[in-house]
Amino acid sequence: MTKQDSYFITINATNYNLQGIESLAWKKLVNGSVKKKNGFRTMCVGTVDVNNSAALRIVVNRKVDESQKTIYFYTDNRSRKFSDLQKDNRITLLFYDARQRVQIVVKATAAIHTSNTVSHERWKATSPQARLGYMTIEVPNTKSEQPTLGYEERFAITKPTDAESDLFQENFTVIACSVYELEFLYLDFHGNRKANFQYENGVLVQGHWAVP
Ligand SMILES: Cc1cc2nc3c(=O)[nH]c(=O)nc-3n(C[C@H](O)[C@H](O)[C@H](O)COP(=O)(O)O)c2cc1C
Repeated sequence: MTKQDSYFITINATNYNLQGIESLAWKKLVNGSVKKKNGFRTMCVGTVDVNNSAALRIVVNRKVDESQKTIYFYTDNRSRKFSDLQKDNRITLLFYDARQRVQIVVKATAAIHTSNTVSHERWKATSPQARLGYMTIEVPNTKSEQPTLGYEERFAITKPTDAESDLFQENFTVIACSVYELEFLYLDFHGNRKANFQYENGVLVQGHWAVP
């Protein structure tokens, strides 16, 4: 046990040492991926865009593999974030839950799964409603004369069948984010607390308390 492990902070009447905070952070991320109303259900994804500036957008936290330190989301491979990641696979994920008063920022490298077993398995588990996101005729963000849905108008009334949606499966991509850095910030009336962690190949190699 290192000296840092002998310090504890209290969150909701439970004491956590540095290792405890690291486990708590991953538990919160896992909860976000499985509980629809949880504040960590969505995250802000940062990529480096074509002009070398920061590009941000919200996506759904689909799965968290705590043992591999990997966070998954889905996207359309015709989107800007996809081409950003093809050029530069560095990605930042930002989570904040106002109810839990916890912010988690992770830095990761993104692996792209298009038209492979991973994407095929996830597509099969996706509802017809969710598949509409990948069924736009034109590339996402294409300029339109009208306020368009992007996909065929009839799907606003009748959900697509498996066969109809399967035609668009090739647009569907799973992004696996392998985390190499995690920052945990807890906001507390009596004083905020911060801890930072580093990983190598999915293994925790360093952790320390930090000035909030
Ligand atoms: C609550 C919410 C959840 C979203 N979930 C996703 C998602 O899981 N995947 C996705 O690609 N876009 C999702 N979006 C849309 C993105 O924020 C974004 O507008 C879109 O993916 C295009 O991004 P890009 O042009 O930067 O690639 C979501 C938006 C909101 C507001």
